[in-house]
Amino acid sequence: MPRIHVTDRAGNRHELDVDSGLTLMEPLREIDNGIEALCGGMCSCATCHVFITPEWYAKLPDRHGDELELLESTECFRDGESRLACQVQVTDSIEGLELTVAPEE
Ligand code: FES
Repeated sequence: MPRIHVTDRAGNRHELDVDSGLTLMEPLREIDNGIEALCGGMCSCATCHVFITPEWYAKLPDRHGDELELLESTECFRDGESRLACQVQVTDSIEGLELTVAPEE
């Protein structure tokens, strides 16, 4: 059960212990000022947009085409940081990952 470090939309910090086998979407929609995840993980809403710190971004599996297309349609897209939380699998290898919830659009 890796622990991740999250800054929510209000700037508050959270330490979250997350279950392997889920995606980042599940824990991030449970916190105050987290993500909405309106499509429930179907990669079609972008309301689960997060910024992964560049060091951690480089360690994650690559974005697939649909994810990148949706992210590039957002106003605050950041190449090298933006991910959809619903498309990032939680594994033990993300112990210590740091992210910030992207602004609401
Ligand atoms: S929850 Fe909708 S794109 Fe991730």
